[in-house]
Amino acid sequence: MTTVPSDNRPARRPFPSGFAWGAATAAYQIEGATTEGGRTPSIWDTFSHTPGRTENGDTGDTAVDHYHRFREDVRLMADLGLTAYRFSIAWPRIQPTGRGPLSQPGLDFYRALTDELLEHGITPAATLYHWDLPQELEDAGGWPARDTAYRFAEYAALTAEALGDRVPTWITLNEPWCSAFMGYAAGAHAPGRTDAADALRAAHHLNLGHGLAVGALRAALPASARLSVSLNLHAVRPRSDRPEDREAARRIDAVGNRIFTSPMLKGRYDDDLLKDTAHLVDWDTLVHDGDLAETSRPIDLLGLNYYAPTVVSSPANGERLPREDGHGTGSHSVWPGAEDVAFHRANEDVTAMGWPIDPTGLSDTLTALHHEFGLPLLVTENGAAFDDTVSPDGTVHDPERTAYVRDHLEAVADAIAAGADVRGYYLWSLMDNFEWGYGYSKRFGIVHIDYATQKRTPKSSAHWYSEAIRRGGLD
Ligand code: FCB
Repeated sequence: MTTVPSDNRPARRPFPSGFAWGAATAAYQIEGATTEGGRTPSIWDTFSHTPGRTENGDTGDTAVDHYHRFREDVRLMADLGLTAYRFSIAWPRIQPTGRGPLSQPGLDFYRALTDELLEHGITPAATLYHWDLPQELEDAGGWPARDTAYRFAEYAALTAEALGDRVPTWITLNEPWCSAFMGYAAGAHAPGRTDAADALRAAHHLNLGHGLAVGALRAALPASARLSVSLNLHAVRPRSDRPEDREAARRIDAVGNRIFTSPMLKGRYDDDLLKDTAHLVDWDTLVHDGDLAETSRPIDLLGLNYYAPTVVSSPANGERLPREDGHGTGSHSVWPGAEDVAFHRANEDVTAMGWPIDPTGLSDTLTALHHEFGLPLLVTENGAAFDDTVSPDGTVHDPERTAYVRDHLEAVADAIAAGADVRGYYLWSLMDNFEWGYGYSKRFGIVHIDYATQKRTPKSSAHWYSEAIRRGGLD
């Protein structure tokens, strides 16, 4: 599905000069080398090594061996013409116990990686937390414990001091919704806990950790540094205009989106969210005086991760999809206080994840964010999994992924045309990798990985993206 019929498309869609043409990855999904250089286990090491947690028992032990092959990977990015790269820093690699001084070998790795990027003219954007909490901090209570927010701010400060001279864009958290609700309510992500109240506590401490980290980063970084956070905001649509379906959408918007955007960008928790979840958690004790001033420290850019829209209805009006949360089902609801809302597939045109393809959710969300918050925006993730196959001649032809990316870039151009200040697009993902609970069974890369040999092969979508970058936009 496209937002503008192809015969109506202007010859060239306008992307601002200096637009970041990027790709994104995350440490646990690509690095491997999980025991090298003093790295300790994260919650994802523990979780993936627990029988039954991931497809085929897959783990990130080797992943795509990026830790040893990063030079080859940066060359690949340069060959494709990427101007920007979003990666994440593994907390247990550079602060193995989750507190105290940083580890030299860990820092050396990220110094070498960022040097390599800069030498190739690729601007790095570093995510501080893409789900790999040091296991030691989980053992001390994890995100439901308030202290984790302070530990995160300390880690952010030390990391910024060490790498701040070479990384201009810093993203505090990746998708705190997944950390809180997939990790602590549904149990489908690490650490695999299933306690709705703990998930809400985790959400507040992620907000607090974000804000404390923003303060620490500002103090440690040059004035030119740009601070951001990547949120997987749900493009929520009621299935019909009926009041009960609109009410279902309000509830999912509250616990799926506004639980992060309101404290981070408005300095408050919304009354309707507090009411929907009052039976689960005592917000007055959870949120201390002064917390909301911390959570809402100003950021420079808002990062959006977008894959598919979310269609909901009242419980009486519909189906409940098996993969309502997009990352596999847990044994418990991922929606505390909105457990009975029904989810519907937006359309039947889906990716290998079963996620409906609908770029209008991206243009709508960017436009809505622009109107509501007025901040410059980044698309920090967007992309699609398909069941790619290697042709006998060794090439990988993935026209569905090319169409997905092209149509979503059109949606970005639509949002820009409507006034949104979108500064960059980071395609998920540079290469196939460990897709969390799905292990290696889902391929999101524009570069194919042969997991037996670690051979990298750019797919036809990579060649298409490369051309689009060279043209500075879309034809
Ligand atoms: C996002 C995650 C990313 C990847 C994509 C497919 O939710 O941030 O790591 O798994 O989904």
